[in-house]
Amino acid sequence: MSRIAYVNGLYLPHAEAGVHIEDRGFQFADGVYEVCEILGGHLVDETRHIDRLLRSLGELRMAMPMSRAALGVVMREVVRRNRVRDGVVYVQVTRGVARRDFLFPAGVAPTLVVTARPADRAKTEMTAATGISVITLPENRWERVDIKTVGLLPNCLAKEAAKAAGAREAWYVDRDGFITEGGSSNAWIVSAGGALITRPAEFGILRGITRTVTLEVARRLNLTVEERPFAREEAYAAVEAFGTSASLGVMPVVRLDGRVVGDGKPGRAARALRAEFHKVAEIAP
Ligand code: PDD
Repeated sequence: MSRIAYVNGLYLPHAEAGVHIEDRGFQFADGVYEVCEILGGHLVDETRHIDRLLRSLGELRMAMPMSRAALGVVMREVVRRNRVRDGVVYVQVTRGVARRDFLFPAGVAPTLVVTARPADRAKTEMTAATGISVITLPENRWERVDIKTVGLLPNCLAKEAAKAAGAREAWYVDRDGFITEGGSSNAWIVSAGGALITRPAEFGILRGITRTVTLEVARRLNLTVEERPFAREEAYAAVEAFGTSASLGVMPVVRLDGRVVGDGKPGRAARALRAEFHKVAEIAP
């Protein structure tokens, strides 16, 4: 079955789908995106993802290409046409096509691309059952990582470095020695006292949708949560660690820079949060 992509009003086979060579997304990474989980054919946390897309667009003075209701229809149609049961839908908006100039062009229509792809749920569950390895790297991104832009080259480099070290994810460490977030996930640890610790999302990280929902799951499970920065040394001493993202959910971390975290197995809190997650997330009809 050929994969179908939505590009500016058309549903096209991937091989025929494309954008202009002077699209500002291509030339300047002048675009934003969302990755939304699909579970059993349903969008997970669509409202929060579209809210965040609107925020990212607003921060960059970029226009929303269509109403949020219309975007919801397109996302569902792309999921349907690709027959995705479990996977992700990807939405990208760029400032559009214009002669290459640093200044924002006037009167240009934004570009909208929507794709969907299946994920191997059983494989992800197996990964979650054993946990992943993470390395740490110096933070080297711009300050506005709260905006979900397609400018992800530092993140690609970080994840390449992780792979070269036999790890799955890289956590950035800021100049003061505090963990910010992962290359494509938010970072969490659990203290010896059982408190969940994750960095506040006001500065230096993306406010992950999975992070937001996980905070709510934690509250419902009566787990103690401390939203505060934590240092790499504190993470080394943690009894548990995990990451959160739309594509992997709550993902236990069992090794950090080659050191065993806790007892080297996915922790109790991470497992409980993962198990309860979809009971709290918004599952769209
Ligand atoms: N990444 N931090 C970064 C830098 C991310 O790229 C992501 C998501 C997250 C987690 O956000 P959320 O819970 O909303 O997925 C945090 C997506 C999955 C990606 O780029 O593929």
